[in-house]
This record gives sequence, structure tokens and C-alpha cells, in this order.
Amino acid sequence: MWKGRFQVETSNLVQIYGESISFDWRLYPYDVEGSIAHAAVLQDAGILTKTEEKEIAKGLREIKKEIDAGNFEFKTSLEDIHMNIESALTEKIGDVGAKLHTARSRNDQVALDVRLYCRDECNRIFQLLTGMQESLLKLAGNHPEAVVPGYTHLQRGQPVLFGHHLLAYIEMFERDKGRIADCFKRINVMPLGSGALAGSTIPLNRKVAAEKLDFPALTQNSMDAVSDRDFVAELIFVCSLIGTHLSRISEDVILWASAEFGFIELSDAHTTGSSLMPQKKNPDVAELTRGKTGRLTGNLVSILTTLKGLPMTYNRDLQEDKEPLFDSIDTVKIALEVFAEMMSEAKIREEVTAAATSDPFLLATDIADYLVLKQIPFRHAHEIVGKLTAYSLSEKQSFQDIPLEQYQKFSEVFDTDVYDILKVETALKARKAIGAPSPANVKRQIGKWQKKLEKNFAL
Ligand code: ARG
Repeated sequence: MWKGRFQVETSNLVQIYGESISFDWRLYPYDVEGSIAHAAVLQDAGILTKTEEKEIAKGLREIKKEIDAGNFEFKTSLEDIHMNIESALTEKIGDVGAKLHTARSRNDQVALDVRLYCRDECNRIFQLLTGMQESLLKLAGNHPEAVVPGYTHLQRGQPVLFGHHLLAYIEMFERDKGRIADCFKRINVMPLGSGALAGSTIPLNRKVAAEKLDFPALTQNSMDAVSDRDFVAELIFVCSLIGTHLSRISEDVILWASAEFGFIELSDAHTTGSSLMPQKKNPDVAELTRGKTGRLTGNLVSILTTLKGLPMTYNRDLQEDKEPLFDSIDTVKIALEVFAEMMSEAKIREEVTAAATSDPFLLATDIADYLVLKQIPFRHAHEIVGKLTAYSLSEKQSFQDIPLEQYQKFSEVFDTDVYDILKVETALKARKAIGAPSPANVKRQIGKWQKKLEKNFAL
């Protein structure tokens, strides 16, 4: 493509070192789409006749079909997807193909291709996040009465409905959808026409390409446009945060599936056995997902490090943006898909979660609140219940079994109504402020999400 200036062939090693076709081949549908739009701009500028524009578009579509069908030979000597397609086009339609690269550089071309690719993938990830939310909602809906201890520091804290715990993750994935939608806005800007770095002397109406490719906006500075990969870094970041969220739920699932907790039963289809220990049923999906957070975080560090030292404008370093981007997107997509499938078929072992929630200490805060409602300042109430807890432990008497006279030794305001407090149902029902886990609230939230997700499936 640059043979005019050079007398010696590129070294083999340099070709191997510099090629990107082995991974950027997957940009081909976008490269073809972008080139068809560019041909329209050139026709509009009087560089191509209408017939030539059509010939180019037809040739490009044929090439796309050949690649779709696996009948296209990618050449490492042609370095990347852009030159592979352009060279195949010229081979196919002759000199007209050689006009396509007028007023364009691979710098604005690759920026466009990557934006088009990211746009599609944002849509897909958004849908998969919705699928994940739906599967958690289904699990919550299948077990509307299941209770579970809520934990802090992995110590039992207060009772909640299992649904409330699952809804927490639905909120989390909703924020991820918001981040995808927000980053999509900055992806959805059209860079073509920026040329190598300073546009072109050929008068281009960039709006023609933007319209063809359905971009609502044009980049406003050619130098920024060819070197900007903020949108790549942003999308990789969103993927890494999705991964972090998936890793958190993985950790819950791994704990829940252990004999120690026993809160959840995963389907055989989503677990594996051990080659040595016949009794084992391992939560590999959750472990793999937790493990993949490493590469997602690594990809984020990789892109930020690649970008940090770059002078204006395009530098070949930028070719290093693609592998982390592709890997983060591929990783997050399959993780969301498999996790959603696993959760929608999981079962909560309600008898086990109920037994764990019957731990009377989960209601200690409720007793303190009871005292507060009887005009005891909270700090004093906290201390009284602390002493009561120590008593309960040393006397091996649960809160329910301690007689009223004994309660009254800790505070005279205790009355028979304290025993009403000491029920999980009472404790849950009383938590009715917005965001708290009363059964009525959780039911309302499940209904709200069901409606919302139906409408909110696509970006
Ligand atoms: N394969 C290159 C990349 O991914 C395309 C742009 C090459 N531009 C250049 N001036 N060498 O960044």
C-alpha cells in the first residue's frame, strides 16, 4: 500500500510483529459498512461517479459475503482488516477500487470501525444485563417467602427476604446499564473525514456518512478524532465493573452452595463434579466468573497504560486497544449469559435459609429499637441489649426463652410485648420505609422490575 516510498520489503519479523489481521478481522462488517458510507461521501464530493460508487458498494458487499461464508483469505502481509478488504476490492473491481481511499486514512477508518463495533456490542451487553436481571427476578419470584440472614462482615446481621438480597443485584446491574447507555453517547460520534490527522483538501460533506451510518453527531477536531480512544477505555471500564459485580454475586453463590451455608441448590447442568471425590458438586461457573475479573481488570489497566504516554495524534500504539477491548466484551457477554441461565434454574433451600434466619441474635437490633420506642436513648438501648446478649450466651437461653422478670432486670420498660418483636415476620413487616425489606415492599419492587424490564430491554 505504500510501495512508492520504499525500496526494501518489510522484514518478515516486522510483519509478524505489526500485523493485526489475526484479531481485527472481526471488524470486517464495520469496515465494509464504513467504506460504503465513505464512497457515498466521495460521490457527493464529485470524486466518484454514481456508477463507480455503486460498483464499490457492490464489490464490498460481495467481499463481506465471502468473509461471512469463510471463503476469504486474510493475508498477514496486508497487515490489517482495512488493507485486506481494500486490496481484495481492487482485485475484484480494478482501478475504481483504488479510488476508495481518497481523503481517508486508516487512522479515521479504524476509529470509525471500532466505534461501530462498540455501538453494536453496547446494545448486546445492555440486553444481556437485562437478561441477568430477569433471571434474578425469576428466582426471587419463585421464592417470594424465603427469608435469609442479611450479613455484614460475613456475620449474620438482620433478617431480610431472599428476594431483597437478589433485588440488590438487580439495582447494581441497572447502574451498569446506565453506564453502558452513557458511554454509548460518546461512542456514537462519527470520526470519518478526519483523515490522517488534519482532514482533507477535498471538500467532504461528512454529514453524508453520518446519516448513512446513523450517527447523531460528528467529531469536531480531526486530531482528537484519530487519537481518541477514551470511548474504548470507558467501555472496558464498564465491562470491568460489570465483572466486579458478577464476581460479588459469584462469591455469594459459592458460599450459598457450600455445605456450610446450603442456601441454594444449583442445577446439575451448571455445576461440575470432581475427578477424584465422587460426592462433589462444584460451583465452577461462579468460580470462573470470579476468576475472570482478573482479566477484565487487567484489560482496563492495559488500555489506560497504552494511552497514557501518547503524544498527539495517531500512534501505532493504538493498535493495542483492540485485544483488551475484544477480550473484555467477549468475557462479559458469555459470563452474563451463563450466569443468567444458572440463576434462573437455581433453587433456594427455604428450610435451610429459614433455620439460619431463626438465629435469635438477628433480632437484637429490633429489641434495641423496641426500647427506643419506649423512650430509651439508642446508645443506652444498645448497651442494654448488649448485656442481654451476653446473658443469653452465658445462660444458653435464647431471647425467646428469657423470662420477663429477667428482661426487666436489664430495663424496667420491658413488657410482655417484647415477645412479639422476637419473630422474623414481625421484624420484616416493620421494615417498611422506602428501600427496606418488608414483604409488601419487596413484592412491590418485584412487580415494578417486571414491568420495567419488559419495556427496558434494548438500549
Ligand atoms: N491496524 C491499525 C490500528 O489498529 C490501523 C491504523 C493504522 N494506521 C497507521 N497509520 N499505521 O490502529
